[in-house]
Amino acid sequence: MFKHIPPFAGDPILSLNDDYQRDPRPHKINLSIGIYFDDAGRIPVLDSVRRAEALVVAKGGPKPYLPIEGAANFRAAVQALLFGAAHEAVTSGRVATIQSVGSSGGLKVGADFIARHFAGSQVWVSDPTWDNHRSMFEGAGLAVHTYPYYDERTGGLKFDEMLATLRRLPPKSIVLLHACCHNPTGVDLSAAQWDALIPLLRERELIPYLDLAYQGFGDGIEADAGAVRTLASAGLSFFIANSFSKSMSLYGERCGALSVVCPDAAQAALVLGQLKFTVRRNYSSPPIHGGQIVATVLTDPELRRSWEAELGAMRERILTMRRTLHGVLSAKLPGRDFGYFLTQRGMFSYTGLSAAQADRLREQHAVYVLRSGRICVAGLNTANVEATAVAMAAVLGAATA
Ligand code: LMR
Repeated sequence: MFKHIPPFAGDPILSLNDDYQRDPRPHKINLSIGIYFDDAGRIPVLDSVRRAEALVVAKGGPKPYLPIEGAANFRAAVQALLFGAAHEAVTSGRVATIQSVGSSGGLKVGADFIARHFAGSQVWVSDPTWDNHRSMFEGAGLAVHTYPYYDERTGGLKFDEMLATLRRLPPKSIVLLHACCHNPTGVDLSAAQWDALIPLLRERELIPYLDLAYQGFGDGIEADAGAVRTLASAGLSFFIANSFSKSMSLYGERCGALSVVCPDAAQAALVLGQLKFTVRRNYSSPPIHGGQIVATVLTDPELRRSWEAELGAMRERILTMRRTLHGVLSAKLPGRDFGYFLTQRGMFSYTGLSAAQADRLREQHAVYVLRSGRICVAGLNTANVEATAVAMAAVLGAATA
């Protein structure tokens, strides 16, 4: 019956992480998947999250279906986090928000909505982007293209080329943008570059679709929402999928949201209705538990303070690892400029390692990085950063020699 079913080639990120788990070498180092590990190499259980979960469990009570759009307290807390509770877009009711199954679930619900209601639109993602972006939008039946983004000569942004390409897009094209901590490069737009992008998006009638999976890992919780707030204040209509997987270390609870910023409250009500229709036809309604943990952390003042401090400590630890990696590599290969480790933000850095070099790192040194050359800086710690730098220097140095 199923002989014609093609084998699944595997996912470039999740399969590599599986390979790492199976590797028997004790000194192996995992810089593949985008997960924050603490300095002891463990996925942290945040104290704020643990205490919020205890409160949720203590409340007990029955477990009815949530409304299709998710829990009201979660949705309100997400809007306040993204826009600020007093933002005009929130107070005027022109943001339609649903609780989603991770931000991936939100991205896909938004993609299905676009495929149905903007049937002529095509999607433009940065070159490069998170591998799954393309799969998700293509899975919704949308054609996906790329706009120039990463400049491998400088380890920075090809901003002028990016604008030139976006300027040529037909109206109602979907432009996928990383709100902060670009995955996989760590290269973000500056505030001035976001400001410069806005008139173009407006004049060309493009539809921005923001992905905010790393809020708090770049420059801070508020600063990392800067792009969201700038676009909303400029009166643009746009989509935003956000996640609590990394910022609350709640990966497996699949906590995220999709928000659509609309011109007015009446249109937001229409959009919310169609998002609900999409959800109902897919998985009916989201789960309760993780969303209630998130809502509790965000709305209890004491837990909120504690979470912000814990997230700040994760951000600082990543910056320390960036500085250490930069220092050791610069000392080992003095002719090369590793300054990009210091300017890139968030969990990821694009190292310029080729696929063959990534293979050598894995096979000869047991250091797992993506074949695109992306490393997860949050997988580094005081015990493995030196060994990682030595291995990278050996592979890069061999290429130079
Ligand atoms: C990553 O980019 O490694 C993370 O976002 C995990 C994933 O699902 O790919």
